[in-house]
Amino acid sequence: MLRPHRPLRWPHALQRLAVVLPLAVLAALALVGINEAGYQRSHQALQQLAHSQATHSSVNRLLQDMLDAETGLRGYLLTGDERYLDPYKAGIATLQDDLEQLRSLVADTPEDRQHYEALARTITTKLSEMALSLDLRRKERQDAWQFVLSTDVGKQHMDAIRLHARALIDSSNAQVARGQAEIERALWGSRLGIALATAVGLLAFYRYLRQTQALQQATAREQQALESERERLEALVRARTASLSALANHLQQVREDERGHLARELHDELGALLTAAKLDLARLKSRIGTSGPEVQERLQHLGATLNQVIALKRRIIEDLRPSALANLGLATALEILAREFSERAGLSVQAQVDEVRLNDAAQLAVYRLVQESLTNIGKYAQAHQVHVRVQPQGAQVVVTVHDDGIGFEPATLGHGGHGLAGMRQRIEALGGQWQVQSTAGQGTTVHAWLPTSG
Ligand SMILES: Nc1ncnc2c1ncn2[C@@H]1O[C@H](COP(=O)(O)OP(=O)(O)OP(=O)(O)O)[C@@H](O)[C@H]1O
Ligand SMILES: [Mg+2]
Repeated sequence: MLRPHRPLRWPHALQRLAVVLPLAVLAALALVGINEAGYQRSHQALQQLAHSQATHSSVNRLLQDMLDAETGLRGYLLTGDERYLDPYKAGIATLQDDLEQLRSLVADTPEDRQHYEALARTITTKLSEMALSLDLRRKERQDAWQFVLSTDVGKQHMDAIRLHARALIDSSNAQVARGQAEIERALWGSRLGIALATAVGLLAFYRYLRQTQALQQATAREQQALESERERLEALVRARTASLSALANHLQQVREDERGHLARELHDELGALLTAAKLDLARLKSRIGTSGPEVQERLQHLGATLNQVIALKRRIIEDLRPSALANLGLATALEILAREFSERAGLSVQAQVDEVRLNDAAQLAVYRLVQESLTNIGKYAQAHQVHVRVQPQGAQVVVTVHDDGIGFEPATLGHGGHGLAGMRQRIEALGGQWQVQSTAGQGTTVHAWLPTSG
């Protein structure tokens, strides 16, 4: 009974492997994504930092210019020395640029813009006040400029300027702090993300290794299953072949027994009847004596017919059970077979049969092999020369039947004939070996090796 074949197990393993690979690709993509997002956030935060730094510097510059201008003016007011006005002039000259620069820096932040506008207003007021003091000093209106100098107006203006500048600096400091925190967060995010993606990647790699191992094991198991299935089938084929071969041997034996039985029946029963008929004919001949020529002729014809039937009976018996083999031995029986075939087929047949030790069954097998080989040569070979050779070789007997006919291609043999198969069957059943060698146009040789008996 053929067992149903177990289904292959790797598709399942392959499916699992197909899940792991996209996971690994996802982990790699996530890694790139997290890194990119972290980079973008850090980049923006750094730009913000640079911007805040620039605002800070710009406010500082502005304050410095204001201080320089005020210090220079005070020096001039107190001494009247024009040289003191240089820092004043320089401060005034750069103030507009400083204000313009600061305005562009705070343009995007509404809160800073408000501080800037208040600062700009206060600076304009302060500049007017300073210009007025300078003007009064130049016009030598001492009481007036000393009055302006002695009041708190200048200080109040400067305090207001500092206040607004401080607010802008605080705001830029707060932005710096936010930028730093943002960078810190981005770094942490990247760190965490990279750690996570690496863990997922490692997990995927581990799973991949496991799956690969499982796949290999499944393949090995499948291979093993196939191997044992093959062995089982081979054993089955061997067992079937052995039982078929036993059956064929049995049939061969039955056939030989039947032929022997038929030959005996023909010999004993038909032989006895034919002998009785011949005796009756002889008696009739003597009784009838010299009767008419027509009766004599009829009796003559009957005698001849009886002789033909007896000869036919002998031939059939001989064919069914070669009596020459039993009575005269293998060598003589084969020589007679060869001679009769040569006469019948009109070919040259050379038989060289040495004395060999073979039991009856083996002798019969050799006889049948040569008989079937000669029949095939007569039917197909179109040969001129035939050699039959039986010789001992060590513990074996080698039988060879060779013809120089048209040959054939043994590999292309169909299942039509049974002659060659029967030969092989007989020889192998006796523990021997059989082989046919033939090439189209180069004749045919049948070989058999049989173990010697006793
Ligand atoms: N000596 C030979 N020369 C050329 N062809 C041969 C020879 N012997 C056998 N063959 C070829 O081999 C085939 C098989 O021979 P085999 O004896 O098995 O069967 P068969 O003679 O055709 O039939 P069966 O023997 O059963 O009556 C033949 O049909 C023939 O084509
Ligand atoms: Mg044949």
